[in-house]
Amino acid sequence: MKARVWIKLVLAIAVISMSGCEKKDATVKEPKAKPGATLEAIQEVTPKAKPEAKEIRQMSANKESFGKTPDGKQVDLYTLTNTSGIRARITSFGAILVSLEVPDRNGKLADITLGFDKLDGYLGVHPYFGAIVGRYANRIGKAAFKLDGVEYKLAANNAENHLHGGIKGFDKVVWRLEDLGVKGAGAVVKMNYISEDGEEGYPGNLACSVTYTLTEDDKLQISYEAETDKKTVVNLTNHSYFNLAGQGTGNILGHELMINADKYTVVDEGLIPTGENRNVKGTPMDFTTPMTIGSRIGQVEGGYDHNYVLKSGGGTLALAAKAYEPTSGRVMEIHTDQPGVQFYTGNFLDGSVTGKAGKVYQKNYGFCLETQHFPDSPNKPDFPSVVLFPGQKYSTVTVYKFSTK
Ligand code: BGC
Repeated sequence: MKARVWIKLVLAIAVISMSGCEKKDATVKEPKAKPGATLEAIQEVTPKAKPEAKEIRQMSANKESFGKTPDGKQVDLYTLTNTSGIRARITSFGAILVSLEVPDRNGKLADITLGFDKLDGYLGVHPYFGAIVGRYANRIGKAAFKLDGVEYKLAANNAENHLHGGIKGFDKVVWRLEDLGVKGAGAVVKMNYISEDGEEGYPGNLACSVTYTLTEDDKLQISYEAETDKKTVVNLTNHSYFNLAGQGTGNILGHELMINADKYTVVDEGLIPTGENRNVKGTPMDFTTPMTIGSRIGQVEGGYDHNYVLKSGGGTLALAAKAYEPTSGRVMEIHTDQPGVQFYTGNFLDGSVTGKAGKVYQKNYGFCLETQHFPDSPNKPDFPSVVLFPGQKYSTVTVYKFSTK
């Protein structure tokens, strides 16, 4: 008998507390969307109903930990936001742009760059996703060059050639934080790195910095500076892979692209310029008027992987390229003071890399527009010079402007 009373008592308490829970839940107010509203409309209603959504859409610059390198170096993750909701995340490892969330024509954000969620991915072998590439971006033929009659031998990490700064380029080092905050120009993170004399074979101690600035008018600006104590060569760029429909959603062949160049540097089978700058007119290389990337890619052996000679000639900030993705409406305009841009269509992506949100990156899943000096310039006296002298300042800027149509 006693046991039965206890069981009844326990059951009664359980029923009372459960009905209490139900009552509590019922009092929680859900943001209401009109019956029959579309998914977009519901999403629009939801953030307005939540006060914290407003906080996210403020200009801000924050820092958190992104983990440690295998040799125990602390790696940071910086987040820059603006009031349109654009969010750029940058890590001190390789000064890599980890993600870039940008609104589509309905205001819906998507991350438009390929990469990894965690530091681990960037520590492994990967094709320079989002990285700052240096000391010399792109290729140097036969991994060697001469300055004042002295030959400098570099790592041959791309067959017999040198690619993107060597075995441990600027994409694989930890950059030091110099500045982080909201300034007049926008949300800013500035990092620096000292590349020692002889590092990867290059002469001179090179003190470099890279600054990412996210502005209120939806521009992500990357500026680079460097100084040396010995004559050297420098060519820095950012190696982001873009898909304006959202990373990992498919290939980029449907994007419309304009490149403000009527010539490109012809290359040999090792992708080293021959020295000839060829006119694009009447060829699949012509993007002087907007064309979809996929419309003629089949006629270009291996896909696009070419340096375009910008009409501006470099030296002043000018329009280099404009990309438009029709399903999302996202538009990206690139302005640079560099004389060239490498247009690369992710030809070597082959499904072997699993990136952010578990997405598998297949061929042509991203495109790069790497603003730069021409490949192999240290061995091509007719190309714009990449030599940096002691006392001189290397200073260059590239701006990515986002909008929709
Ligand atoms: C080069 C490609 C290379 C890719 C990834 C691009 O800048 O032009 O040839 O495969 O980077 O390394």
